[in-house]
Amino acid sequence: MAEVVIVPDRVTAGGLVADEIAALLRRRPDAVLGLATGSTPLPVYQALRARLEGVDTSQVRGFALDEYIGIDPAHPESYSSVIAREVVEPLGLDPALIRTPPADDPDIATAGERYDDAIRAAGGVDIQILGIGTDGHIGFNEPGSSFASRTRVKTLTRQTREDNARFFDSIDEVPRHCLTQGLGTILEARHLVLLAFGEGKAAAIAGAVEGPVTAMVPGTAIQLHPHVTVIVDEAAASKLRLDQYYRDTFDNKPAWQGI
Ligand code: GLP
Repeated sequence: MAEVVIVPDRVTAGGLVADEIAALLRRRPDAVLGLATGSTPLPVYQALRARLEGVDTSQVRGFALDEYIGIDPAHPESYSSVIAREVVEPLGLDPALIRTPPADDPDIATAGERYDDAIRAAGGVDIQILGIGTDGHIGFNEPGSSFASRTRVKTLTRQTREDNARFFDSIDEVPRHCLTQGLGTILEARHLVLLAFGEGKAAAIAGAVEGPVTAMVPGTAIQLHPHVTVIVDEAAASKLRLDQYYRDTFDNKPAWQGI
């Protein structure tokens, strides 16, 4: 089962994940990071900055989960801009080694396949950071997405476009389509780290961690993976039935295990 870590706040969550990533990069300077956008992973990237001071990050490789289709890549809310601003620049990574799904590719029908090939050629993702949508989506795999899905074009739900409208001037500006890693692609990463904060994510987290495995809640795909860490604040944990067990487990965990 997923290891569930309940933390007091997002800064603590960011620190835990950043410790793990910094240790990985000290062992393997060319490790492959699976990068997520949205507001949830920001504390991870902020905490990493301090931990990577003095560390050579020039060989770090990375693949983002998803990208909007029909948005200028230079738009500040394109995911390539977000990754450049929040991850590549502050951490001093080489932009040539950090990729987002090429949603502006003229051959969009096969762009996903080539993105998956590139992930495979890099040796696969070592640690995949994930957020979760209020409807249970991971990446942009909306409810109903196949657990075997690969990187491909998806249509965003009305709910996701409403949730993401806060990053744009109006909901009409939120793209309708995206190129997203599939659930099958995400499940190939060696370690999944799913973060969620706030009451608005409590139902999605309870469904993903403890609900029956169903394509209707794409986050339940994590139950099929052998190494998953779910890090949540108290509000996002509030609908978990086994919360006491998760607390006992983490409190009594040997320090060498990390997350
Ligand atoms: C978007 C992204 C997801 C992200 C989700 C939650 O739809 N494609 O990768 O997990 O939103 O966003 P937030 O972290 O801002 O709540």
